[in-house]
Amino acid sequence: MARTELTLTSSVPLRGSEARMPVLGFGVYQIDRPDCAAACLRALSAGYRHIDTAQIYQNEEEVGAALRCCGLPREAIFVTTKIRYPRLGKGKTYLRALQSVRKIDPRDDGYVDLFLVHSPHALKPKDRKELWLALEKLHAEGRIRAIGVSNYQPEHLEEMKGYATVWPPAVNQILLHPWTQQRETVDYCNEHGIILQAFSPLARGMKLREPALVGIAEKVGKSPAQVLIRYCLQKGWVPLPKSEKEEHIEQNADVFCFSISQDDMATLDGLDRRQGPKFE
Ligand SMILES: NC(=O)c1ccc[n+]([C@@H]2O[C@H](COP(=O)([O-])OP(=O)(O)OC[C@H]3O[C@@H](n4cnc5c(N)ncnc54)[C@H](OP(=O)(O)O)[C@@H]3O)[C@@H](O)[C@H]2O)c1
Repeated sequence: MARTELTLTSSVPLRGSEARMPVLGFGVYQIDRPDCAAACLRALSAGYRHIDTAQIYQNEEEVGAALRCCGLPREAIFVTTKIRYPRLGKGKTYLRALQSVRKIDPRDDGYVDLFLVHSPHALKPKDRKELWLALEKLHAEGRIRAIGVSNYQPEHLEEMKGYATVWPPAVNQILLHPWTQQRETVDYCNEHGIILQAFSPLARGMKLREPALVGIAEKVGKSPAQVLIRYCLQKGWVPLPKSEKEEHIEQNADVFCFSISQDDMATLDGLDRRQGPKFE
């Protein structure tokens, strides 16, 4: 599908799943537990159908609460979560992942649409294997619709070939915005049909006054944040902007009625600092 024809309800097929992933997601990192369900409900009422959480955000239950009280059928909403650390002991990593499924969708046959290994960094290869195999098991049992990874670089994706039964992963969620384009990882994922989700697509709000971006925003009559989200969509990435403000939540979903010209896309491409993200 040409990216200019996208709408808020557009979705992409996912490897290993009958579910399709909406092309715009709503991130809930650093949304405190008491505020998270309300933020998700605001996003759902603005038309988002895709929410991105993680075990370490400590708000999976609140995402689940929003799913149950929003009035939409479970199947209408796509939810991603992530597991960061393996647990020592037989089966404990699997149980920890299952706990997330139950927090988000407590029904007997509840499920999560996409489950990611949160990061390969600060882990040993055996830990990465442990996490992935736990997700494979839940996927085989139907409690996860699709499995993927986050923050993986080509070397980690290559390493997976040594232990994964399901390969390649459906998704790699990485830091992506004009200033951090991770071209080697992007090229690798494109070559292998791994869908890229863009986290921190607004560069955490730190670059919204950059003159080149502001100039393009003025030209298209949209805000700098909307241009950054639209940039991801036109690159073929699935952006996951976060906001707690109703005005921003609505604005960030209003990115389907304009497009960025090829010249302006090239200008944004040119902002890349060509540095990878820093990991601990
Ligand atoms: N896999 C990973 O390792 C990883 C890492 C980081 C993030 N993520 C995911 O990606 C999501 C987004 O990343 P992020 O939360 O780091 O940052 P982000 O979405 O790039 O930026 C969020 C910041 O931008 C502000 N903002 C949002 N919309 C705006 C608008 N229209 N105008 C002006 N400011 C606006 C927000 O403030 P307000 O709330 O006040 O609007 C917030 O301060 C996370 O929530 C999480 O789901 C994943």
